[in-house]
Amino acid sequence: MTSSDRSHLPPYFNISPAKAAERLTEGIDTGRFAKAAAFGAKGREDLAKRGYAPDGQKRLRRFSTWEVCKYLIPVAPAHFRRVLKANPDLPQGEGEGGTKWFRLDDIIALREHFAAEGAANKEYKSWRPEGLPAKVVAIANFKGGVGKTSTCAHLAMSAALDGYKVLVVDLDSQGSLTSIMGGQVEDEWQTAFPLMAKDFARHMQSENTIREARGEAPLPFDETLSEALEVSPRNLIQKTHWPNIDLIGAQLNLYWAEFQVPVWRLQSRSWPLWDALTNALESEEILNDYDIVLLDTPPALGYLTINALAAADILIVPLGASFLEFDSTGRFFDMLYSTFASIEDGENRARRRDGLPEMRFEWDAVRALITRFDAAQQTDLANVIQAYFGDFMATYRQDMTALVGQAAEQVNGIYEADHRLFNRDTYVRGRETFDRTWAEIKEVILGAWWRDLQMQSDEEV
Ligand SMILES: Nc1ncnc2c1ncn2[C@@H]1O[C@H](COP(=O)(O)OP(=O)(O)O)[C@@H](O)[C@H]1O
Ligand SMILES: [Mg+2]
Repeated sequence: MTSSDRSHLPPYFNISPAKAAERLTEGIDTGRFAKAAAFGAKGREDLAKRGYAPDGQKRLRRFSTWEVCKYLIPVAPAHFRRVLKANPDLPQGEGEGGTKWFRLDDIIALREHFAAEGAANKEYKSWRPEGLPAKVVAIANFKGGVGKTSTCAHLAMSAALDGYKVLVVDLDSQGSLTSIMGGQVEDEWQTAFPLMAKDFARHMQSENTIREARGEAPLPFDETLSEALEVSPRNLIQKTHWPNIDLIGAQLNLYWAEFQVPVWRLQSRSWPLWDALTNALESEEILNDYDIVLLDTPPALGYLTINALAAADILIVPLGASFLEFDSTGRFFDMLYSTFASIEDGENRARRRDGLPEMRFEWDAVRALITRFDAAQQTDLANVIQAYFGDFMATYRQDMTALVGQAAEQVNGIYEADHRLFNRDTYVRGRETFDRTWAEIKEVILGAWWRDLQMQSDEEV
């Protein structure tokens, strides 16, 4: 064979094992990872000096008159300008000429004005029942890269633009949602970790009260548990660059929870480990301070995800319209079934023994959501998936859009990107896909609240 023949072969032919061996380094020992980590840290510093690192200070952009009138307050621009002129006390926006730029705070104030003074038949403010707690929405799928974090971030921003007060909780130790929200997290004590620890510590305290009454030695409290008892969930909540989105952030050490929770459970088999996050959210009235709580989860059905699912009223399961993602999502539902059925069985056995009423998990709604959809290539497959998942499926499919990738270069969501950076049509189409996802999930949230209201008034009768 001549060398020119060879050059036509794909690159994986004729690899010489002996030469390949020469190119290998010695075997890799554990310490080598420390070296790689040290290089990583040095490189990071270098890149930061060259201006690649985000400065950690995110600022929310302003919104133009065009955007306010098209997306946020249903008024015609000319009327909008007249109302501002007639009411000099209202926020007037910044900038010269016809287009003014408004902060989200200002828009929320303007919306209040239109709701009070504007046409009675127009919806200026989104509905939310008085006196009911926030709806908790978990976004989960044990597959990575399916769009959980993007969906969670965009839903949070859509809900905020709609005027809702939002809390996002990042349960993924990779902390992507935390970066999107500009969160600062030093260590695991500023994540959901202490919420889990505190719940276990509380359980141990009540166990020890029982043991004491029986004259038994108390179970020991280590430093972590004593420290956790001092943590208030409220102190874990940080403000973000969005005036109406708050965050409980995540960081690599949060992963430790996945090792610690089963150890705690072994120490006390009666600890309902799946309720820790629910208890934390219910304590100190956190659910009464927000309208919507969004939980982003890691790509695994670990203890943090189980807590998120147990705390959720609504579950969103993003998946791409591909065979593999459909297949693994089916398995994810199977795992959810066996996990929660076995928790229910175990609990109810104990409850029957103690003469207590039985428990069962219940969700308002579950929606599998096709993400990164390419209608030209994936419509057939998406229709099949739709047929199999039926009412578990959102009807709208979230399109693949270059805006998410592009926007991610400087900012992290389409709502944060300045529309002037894009071709108007591309912007309008890209934005519409996330607006429609929000519309469908908002409908589920409003319906669930409405049903709760009906149930409440039925109980009162
Ligand atoms: N609608 C979309 N259009 C284009 N890219 C998307 C879209 N949704 C998500 N992506 C991209 O897909 C990748 C994985 O999304 P991500 O939300 O991080 O998934 P997960 O949280 O499930 O791991 C990211 O690079 C994200 O920017
Ligand atoms: Mg993610």
